[in-house]
Amino acid sequence: MKIFVDSADLEEIKKAYEWRVADGVTTNPSLLKKSVEKNKEQSLKEYIGEILKATKGTPVSLEVTSSEAKDMVLEGVMLYRTFKSYSKNIVIKIPVNTALGESDENHFEGIKAIKELSDRKINVNATLVFTPEQALLAAKAGAKYVSLFVGRTDDYIKSKNNVAGKQEYYPAEGLPGGEGLLEDNGIVSGIDLVSQSAEIIRKHGLKSEVLAASLRNKRQVREAALAGAHIATIPFSVLKEMVMHKKTFEGMKKFSEDAPEEYKKLMR
Ligand code: E4P
Repeated sequence: MKIFVDSADLEEIKKAYEWRVADGVTTNPSLLKKSVEKNKEQSLKEYIGEILKATKGTPVSLEVTSSEAKDMVLEGVMLYRTFKSYSKNIVIKIPVNTALGESDENHFEGIKAIKELSDRKINVNATLVFTPEQALLAAKAGAKYVSLFVGRTDDYIKSKNNVAGKQEYYPAEGLPGGEGLLEDNGIVSGIDLVSQSAEIIRKHGLKSEVLAASLRNKRQVREAALAGAHIATIPFSVLKEMVMHKKTFEGMKKFSEDAPEEYKKLMR
């Protein structure tokens, strides 16, 4: 499974590439807002340019902000052209559905934009995907990546069912409710969303890569890998958690204390 860094923070991104664990980066408007607030002295164009240089030609997702297909296509092409001199691997993030509610007319603008940009050979990351049906439509439209929102799905199932508390970990197998498991549209957890979407994409030979997004802790990363995600996009704090274990620290301390001087000299 590939690891993308879910961040628009240059320092975090540089660190993850220095650690040799990053295969790409995903940003979104909310992450960019934090960077703008932190970096008042530099233009956003320059800042994104630095992110692209730091990511050494690996895929970097930049999201559009319009909601009609023709505008999203124009924005996608513009982002692609503006930044293609910094990196050949710009991915345009398009929301699978840009409508703001059921009564809205624009439910298929996202799919149309995904199809149009993919036909123009611009790689698309279909975002805000909360159902396997949306994943299927995005994959059929040609999205290179389909981003399933794990943590936000768990939050939604919790809030729909009045499950109190912001739990750090929501079980992949779901939580028992009144008449079985708590669910949304037959999805019992964010990881279940990844698993069902991955199964559909693989079963039907679709080319999209399944990207587990909105991950909140290291256990979810493991479960996303087991559920068949091709990629997990991981916040910096969770990336750091992944390498840590108390017993590793203890073992390391003991090995460093015990190593005979004569043995150490053999390696110098
Ligand atoms: C990445 O592509 C998504 O925008 C991101 O994972 C969303 O994460 P959040 O639900 O923690 O905001």
